[in-house]
Amino acid sequence: LFEGAAAASHSAIPFGAAVSDGPLQTDAAYQKALIEHCQLLVGEGGMKWADLRPSPSQYVYDQPDRLIAFAEANGMKMRGHTLAWYAAMPDWALQLKGETETSRELMTHIETVVGRYKGRIPSWDVVNEALSDDGPRVGLRDSVWSANLGEYYIDLAFHTARAADPAAQLVINDYGLEAATAKSSARRRAMLDLLRRLRDRDVPVQALGFQAHLPGNEEIDKDEVSRFVSDVKDMGLDVLVTELDVIDDQLPADIKERDAIAAKRVGALLGAILDVTRPTAVVTWGITDRYTWVPIWYKRADGQANRPLPLDEDYREKPMMRTIKQAV
Ligand code: XIL
Repeated sequence: LFEGAAAASHSAIPFGAAVSDGPLQTDAAYQKALIEHCQLLVGEGGMKWADLRPSPSQYVYDQPDRLIAFAEANGMKMRGHTLAWYAAMPDWALQLKGETETSRELMTHIETVVGRYKGRIPSWDVVNEALSDDGPRVGLRDSVWSANLGEYYIDLAFHTARAADPAAQLVINDYGLEAATAKSSARRRAMLDLLRRLRDRDVPVQALGFQAHLPGNEEIDKDEVSRFVSDVKDMGLDVLVTELDVIDDQLPADIKERDAIAAKRVGALLGAILDVTRPTAVVTWGITDRYTWVPIWYKRADGQANRPLPLDEDYREKPMMRTIKQAV
């Protein structure tokens, strides 16, 4: 056992990270860091439609099976990500037409995948990024699911997941819910409205996931986030943090300064949640700055490497990690 593992296992709130399949197979230091710091893991990819379903009849389980084996061998739990999303879709699935075909494929997929891992994946991101992101009026995001089924795709996904694994925590997951901006405020409102409609239709949602890809240059609206969390709790739902990182493309070049701001954002979010309730998990979208999706979308103009995650490129703990450990 690594030294950190014992301490970490006493954590009240499970902390975990998204895992990248490539380095999991090749980088022993990466494996060691995951074992040392994490109580739960989620695949950064591997369980997305494009990865699992290259063709309608083919399910490719290599990546998720590898990750689950690693998690179970090291006493870690799993989350599943994700069953219905607009992105990472294989071409064939983007061609689905009509209510019958679309609902049949969505149901078959969820039954098959959730069923296969029943009892081994206690928490699923059932619907990811349901809200649109095209202006001040936040509605239902365009996708093959919403185009063919309307908002009802959400109901169908949750009912199907519930039937496939009655014990799993079923999560609706989204981003842009944290900041002190008009946009974030509109998204919080839209999410509450959606959750209310789902509750009124008896859709079995258990929890709201804050992706929490936090824009470093935006303050967290602590009061509004707390109020939002308490509204969500009042509906009988739990909350968790599913994809935490700090998007630092706009932050100062100075590393100390940058890391301090990143830790402050994370502290503000976790504090806003903890003031109301205990999240059922805190999960970062990666563990080390060495492997992160952030530069794909948010590369810094000055050419410096992004620093979005709790460990630096050499697996040293950053201020963000200390902030997280204090919170959990
Ligand atoms: C990202 C992965 O991190 C990348 O490796 C991949 O190329 C694209 O997807 N919100 C989500 C995640 O829900 O699935 C995304 O993951 C990041 C944004």
